[in-house]
Amino acid sequence: MSKGVQYYVQEANEAQKRVTEYRQTVKSWKFDTIAVHGMYSLEETLANQGSIAEPIFVSTSQAYRDSDEMEAGLSYQMPTWAYSRIHNPTVYYLEETLALLETYSTDLDASALCTSSGMSAIKQAIEPFLEKKDDKPINFVTPSQIYGGTYQLFNVRMPERGAVPHWVEDPSDIETWKDQIDENTRFLYAEMPTNPQQSCFDIEEVAKLAHEHGIPLIVDSTISTPALLRPIQFGADIVGHSLTKTIGSSGSAIGGAIIARHNLTSKHLTDEQKGNYAVWLKLLPFRDSGPCMSPYSAYVFLNEIKTLRIRMKHYSENAMEVVRFLKNHPKIEKIDYLGVEDHKNHNLAKKYMKLVDSDTPMFGHLMSIYIKGDSSNTRAFFDKLNLFRRATDLGRTKSIATICAISTHLQQGEEGQKKAGIPQNLVRLCIGGEDSQDIINDLKQALE
Ligand SMILES: Cc1ncc(COP(=O)(O)O)c(C=O)c1O
Repeated sequence: MSKGVQYYVQEANEAQKRVTEYRQTVKSWKFDTIAVHGMYSLEETLANQGSIAEPIFVSTSQAYRDSDEMEAGLSYQMPTWAYSRIHNPTVYYLEETLALLETYSTDLDASALCTSSGMSAIKQAIEPFLEKKDDKPINFVTPSQIYGGTYQLFNVRMPERGAVPHWVEDPSDIETWKDQIDENTRFLYAEMPTNPQQSCFDIEEVAKLAHEHGIPLIVDSTISTPALLRPIQFGADIVGHSLTKTIGSSGSAIGGAIIARHNLTSKHLTDEQKGNYAVWLKLLPFRDSGPCMSPYSAYVFLNEIKTLRIRMKHYSENAMEVVRFLKNHPKIEKIDYLGVEDHKNHNLAKKYMKLVDSDTPMFGHLMSIYIKGDSSNTRAFFDKLNLFRRATDLGRTKSIATICAISTHLQQGEEGQKKAGIPQNLVRLCIGGEDSQDIINDLKQALE
């Protein structure tokens, strides 16, 4: 005889109650413990043949016990993973770890949604805010100093669908944000810090400004990672990540994530959308457009995130050593690194970027160096690097060098590069996990 849909809903509610209780225990742990174990409990370990690693669930879909359970799941009356374009158990472990890390040491709660890339995370995160309800033009406010791919999305793709960016020239100046907001602004967006210009903004001030206008603040925190900065704690509504970068340091998977606080601020969304934005996105718009993360990639990121804090510490310390070497080098015109005391944004960075579970300011692995002379000098230096890998990439365990004007920011053209502050002699260095002396020796021979 049929058990009925309600039987399965009740059974799932009881299971969910146990998960919620366990989540509270996980939330009380220290950062490293959450990063290492997340929601993959001992009970789940034993239920998976004792596998200490989170299993990779390669299956495209879930089988149900009977038609009632199938209906309960597919009508979203109970948690289910159903089909891997919507949910997947391996991806779930990563999502929970990210949500817990981004709200670490707060009473706030958030949910996460993993995506196929950092770009798809940004696009998914912003689109629901841009729904056109009347003939009024829609805009959003963002610094022009942002990752080149995001600049393209904002400057080309969004205007194609009727939403225009209002550019902030100096994100560290709250007045320039105020100047760009009007009654048709849907959200404020920024990176902290930016790639590669190392500009910063005051998260608390900008979040307050956004909320005064009834709109959310979205922060791309890819460069900081939750080991150095957790923007939700300072008032941000949504955090976006390219997991491809520092969280996935080995460089073997592409992926992104949206972490949204519960009950976020937006006068444009319904209560249902705002309550648990990441889950609403997952169950509806994301399901209908399909930019899901592969379970293989989730497995890669899950393994990498376990050592995030210790890696960020090592990379940051290495970067400081490199800066000490380059600072007075005769072939270097300028260095932009947030850890340098006379950097314009040093104090802002110091306020927000601290190694988690400590009071120690730490500034990450990314710096921009400007080579003296014309672009041929820059290319000569770049081409002589041996240990650094020449690539359009960052956040790797291996040190990476990039000439942004001919790679990450090429599509923007000369005018866009000027607006974003990308001259031809800028070389972005992303310092990795090698011994700092070997990194310095490589820079030394290339400069000579
Ligand atoms: C700050 C930042 N955000 C987003 C992205 C886009 O991420 P993905 O390459 O994973 O799409 C990048 C890529 O470099 C980035 O540096």
